[in-house]
Amino acid sequence: MEKTIAVLPGDGIGPEVTEAAVKVLRSIAMRYGHTFHWKFADIGGAAVDKTGSPLPKETVEACEASDAILLGAVGGPKWDNNPAQQRPEKGLLSIRKHFDLFANVRPVKAVPALLGSSPLKEEIARDVDMVIVRELTGGLYFGEPKRHNESSAVDTLVYTRAEIERIVDQAFEMARSRRGKLTSVDKANVLESSKLWRKVVEERKAGYPDVEVEHMLVDAAAMKLITNPKAFDVLVTENMFGDILSDEGSVITGSLGMLPSASIRADGFGLYEPVHGSAPDIAGQNKANPSAAILSAAMMLRQSFGMDSEASTIEDAVMSVLEDGYCTGDLSACGNKVISTERFVEKVIEELERE
Ligand code: NAI
Ligand code: MG
Repeated sequence: MEKTIAVLPGDGIGPEVTEAAVKVLRSIAMRYGHTFHWKFADIGGAAVDKTGSPLPKETVEACEASDAILLGAVGGPKWDNNPAQQRPEKGLLSIRKHFDLFANVRPVKAVPALLGSSPLKEEIARDVDMVIVRELTGGLYFGEPKRHNESSAVDTLVYTRAEIERIVDQAFEMARSRRGKLTSVDKANVLESSKLWRKVVEERKAGYPDVEVEHMLVDAAAMKLITNPKAFDVLVTENMFGDILSDEGSVITGSLGMLPSASIRADGFGLYEPVHGSAPDIAGQNKANPSAAILSAAMMLRQSFGMDSEASTIEDAVMSVLEDGYCTGDLSACGNKVISTERFVEKVIEELERE
């Protein structure tokens, strides 16, 4: 297969971890006989410094001419006092909106070699294998917030039927390709938008007779996520609930440096990025854990290019390196073979070449 990938390294450890992911993708391309073309472009603070904009026109054009986007991270203290339009994070929000990436997908999977890194008890974290699907372009974060005056404020939570249908369908498809269970999380006992959400889920489920559906209130879901996370397969929810629950879910696996994510739309186009930020405290020190970026690249292969076997090969290679006890310094439970970012990538590539 021949594919074009836009690579947006961004700020802080972003360039280090995306370089790692690109190396792994080059190795996979060789092994499977694919050709990947690369379009490197700026986003975030790096783009502000060069052009004054966190998402320059050239970057949007590079992404439009690509089959998928691989992103590092944006932000850092250097730009913290910039005006709103020149904040690095604005680049990320704009790109999601521009490409209508309405589904944010975060797998939460316990890594056997890292169970000791999770604050949860081992018997709770072990064998967790779930995906959180968060609606990303609607709801409270895109309502029109209006400050009434100094003593009151308002945010609006709007969802249309069409917005709910497309995210719910995405989640049903995902559940169908996994263990066939979908948990829809809402607050239908108080919120009107949640009542509509629940109604739409009930309607759509007729099209997926092979998927078992349950509804759960968000407060109960927050509790269950850390008391019995194994009970979940695919969890779908609206924007703000998804923001909160996906951060909560991330503690299960121990380190931010392990968590990949995808922001996708129905035709398969997507933006793939690690969940973590730009980690200014360790940037440029060859210490960052590149696993999240590498696993994001694997998600890209699977979800945007349909390369299932290639994706699994990468995931297995990362797990093998960890099981051999090698890891970057953020993983307290890895044994004592702490290695650098570059060395970790070399190890992953050695595994890829061996398999
Ligand atoms: P962060 O995720 O960058 O870092 C939190 C802590 O985790 C730090 O101690 C960091 O060293 C560590 N860490 C993160 N990723 C790691 C990795 N791959 N390997 C080893 N250690 C890792 O979050 P923080 O510090 O709150 O934010 C730093 C900057 O990143 C801010 O400007 C923030 O706005 C931005 N940010 C950007 C995101 C994005 O681009 N998607 C997401 C979250 C934050
Ligand atoms: Mg968040």
